[in-house]
Amino acid sequence: MTGFEFGRNPDDLKGEVARGAPAVVVVPDMRQRQGADIESRLEEACGLARAIGLEVVDAFALPIRAVRPATLFGEGQVEKIGTACTQSGADLVVVDGALSAIQQRNLEERLGRKVIDRTGLILEIFGERAATAEGRLQVELAHLDYQAGRLVRSWTHLERQRGGFGFLGGPGETQIEADRRLIRGRMARIRRELEQVRRTRGLHRERRQRAPWPVIALVGYTNAGKSTLFNRLTGAAVMAEDLLFATLDPTMRAIRLPGVDKAILSDTVGFISDLPTQLVAAFRATLEEVTAADVIVHVRDVANPASDDQRREVEAILADLGVIADNGSGDGVSGDGDGDGDGRRVPIIEAWNKVDLLSDDDRAMRRDLIAHDVPERPAVPISAATGEGVADLIALLGKLLTGSAQTLDLTIPMADGQKLAWLHAHGDVLSERTGEDSGGLPASRIRVRLTPRELGRFYSL
Ligand code: GTP
Repeated sequence: MTGFEFGRNPDDLKGEVARGAPAVVVVPDMRQRQGADIESRLEEACGLARAIGLEVVDAFALPIRAVRPATLFGEGQVEKIGTACTQSGADLVVVDGALSAIQQRNLEERLGRKVIDRTGLILEIFGERAATAEGRLQVELAHLDYQAGRLVRSWTHLERQRGGFGFLGGPGETQIEADRRLIRGRMARIRRELEQVRRTRGLHRERRQRAPWPVIALVGYTNAGKSTLFNRLTGAAVMAEDLLFATLDPTMRAIRLPGVDKAILSDTVGFISDLPTQLVAAFRATLEEVTAADVIVHVRDVANPASDDQRREVEAILADLGVIADNGSGDGVSGDGDGDGDGRRVPIIEAWNKVDLLSDDDRAMRRDLIAHDVPERPAVPISAATGEGVADLIALLGKLLTGSAQTLDLTIPMADGQKLAWLHAHGDVLSERTGEDSGGLPASRIRVRLTPRELGRFYSL
């Protein structure tokens, strides 16, 4: 006997698990990974668990040679998890893999504790951090879809407006049919809301594009330090004001940079490897701001041994979103405005964060790399935690955003109303007078300031 309670009804578990709850994290290892590989996967899984406020009291990987349909893990492994829970006093088990509804239920019964899987965990994180109204709705939709097959679970989240979705406690619910109807109705309502939000978003974006404020998007692997940097920048950069659309999007702030009166800084949800497919749409929606950014700051945790892998993951997703070229090399900040056909390519700089955790040698080595232009992207070593290097980052952003706009004299035929309207909507029109084009037709002579990115869009009209 291992000392933990087998056979408890999960419905008795309600209310036992809360934020700050002690949790055991288990990585089912299907690929018989070794050493650093499995260590970094374990570390990521623990990071995700901590991201929703759980206290990780034990963590280990278990090799899966043959999947048990009922419990995923083998008999002895389930016992091992149970013993670990008892010894560490855990209330919750996080399985860093996909569990079927049956497996989840069976494990809960066997372990006498709540069990959540990777999809559930990531849904919680996205639910808390989705930056946009659309993102939140997408996450909720994905969550309902996920839960539809798990009607043995509790349903308090149906009453909740936002935030996490109710894995962490709440009363059990046995009226499965009533639940089903509730879910179907809720999903239909969310789809309608999504339509509405998309329309509103279009209007907001239009308004923002008319205001000549550049947008800086922070992206990065989960736990890289984006939010810390966001807070540091909004604190350090003198002005951090709520914007008109702050209610729609609480993670955007206006900041002032050298030479830039107002720029919009936008935080995004952290990137995660092996994103469950149900979540890809939700993830993309939360990243919509990135595709409209003028500059992307890729925040990297350079103290993490998996930093290079994480970088590749992030760049692959950015390529997938169409904001950088597919080969991952991009063209850095030297964008000359000719774009990549759809005109959405966005310059990227890298913030090499957490340098305070590096040894002096390591730090010197990285500074050396940057000094010799080795990185593919322009990079600034920083510590969002201590503030080191942040002034350099601010200076580089200022330089990028001001240095890139150029004044152009354009002659546009009056007949080309679309181009004229676009310039007025997106460019900074300095002067305009009527004249003729080279063919003697009536034309507008416009002096306008455009960033390379806008110029790229203009040429692709
Ligand atoms: P997600 O929201 O999961 O994507 O994470 P994030 O990228 O917003 O990371 P966050 O700012 O929440 O930071 C993650 C952890 O790293 C926190 O514990 C921070 O305190 C810590 N951290 C952030 N920046 C630094 C840094 O420069 N140095 C050190 N030592 N820790 C840092």
